[in-house]
Amino acid sequence: MLSDPEFAALLERMELSWDGYHKVRRGVKRRLRRRAGELGCKRFRDYLELLERDPALRAECRLLLTVSVSRFLRDAALWQALQDELLPALAWRGRPRVWSAGCALGQEPYGMLMTYHELRRADPGLPWLELMATDLNPAYLARAQAGVFARGALRRLPPGWQERYFAKVPGVKQYRIRQELRRGVTWQQHDLLRDPPPGRFGLIMLRNSVFTYEQEPAQGRALRLVLGALEPGGWLVIGRKESLPPGEWSLAPAARLAYVFEKPSA
Ligand SMILES: C[S@@+](CC[C@H](N)C(=O)[O-])C[C@H]1O[C@@H](n2cnc3c(N)ncnc32)[C@H](O)[C@@H]1O
Repeated sequence: MLSDPEFAALLERMELSWDGYHKVRRGVKRRLRRRAGELGCKRFRDYLELLERDPALRAECRLLLTVSVSRFLRDAALWQALQDELLPALAWRGRPRVWSAGCALGQEPYGMLMTYHELRRADPGLPWLELMATDLNPAYLARAQAGVFARGALRRLPPGWQERYFAKVPGVKQYRIRQELRRGVTWQQHDLLRDPPPGRFGLIMLRNSVFTYEQEPAQGRALRLVLGALEPGGWLVIGRKESLPPGEWSLAPAARLAYVFEKPSA
């Protein structure tokens, strides 16, 4: 009951990008079909009509359209650059403040904490990391905060990290991130298109969210907001396959990677 043209019409209505959703649409369509069924809609068109009349249903639908696909240390070259260059440089400047925007189920913020912790193991004098982890979807945020992952999710961690940073949950094949690692993390629901920035940061991770799933005008709005939260000399990291929306952003390329940008110092 949900054809591609109907799904495309919904994306258009929500100002979201067909190209971004194309590959992940099966799972998203399943969620939407189930919800439309629960609401007693015989045809998907009935659900679209309900959305037009009911802003609360529209907000709920927006959450159904969020995609939580992530992985620990997704994009190895980036995490190497973070460990070798960006995080040490950030720590040298003073208190390192990082924002994981669109943090999904927590793999990115915990990856950041583990990577930084490794640096502190080598140099215990480094300041503690302050990490802001935000997402539009409160259900994802709650799961991220719980910090429980299936064993398979930890498979690609470097040797020793699973033992160092996770404790087995008794009776199930799951692992919980250790309490010590969570120090300095703030979790907050935050909409990159509407809410004011949740602070000022030396490093912002904005990967695989708005630049993939939103249309260009919304991407530009989100980028403007995010750049307002980035300290001069700070870094913005976007997804490996993403690009910045059209516009004059006065960002310089940074590190060795084409998708890491530096905000020039004033
Ligand atoms: C595919 S996950 C990416 C997770 C992580 N950044 C990564 O690259 O592995 C996209 C996340 O962005 C969030 N998201 C989408 N639109 C958002 C918005 N307008 N404001 C905040 N978060 C948003 C979704 O809820 C989802 O958790």
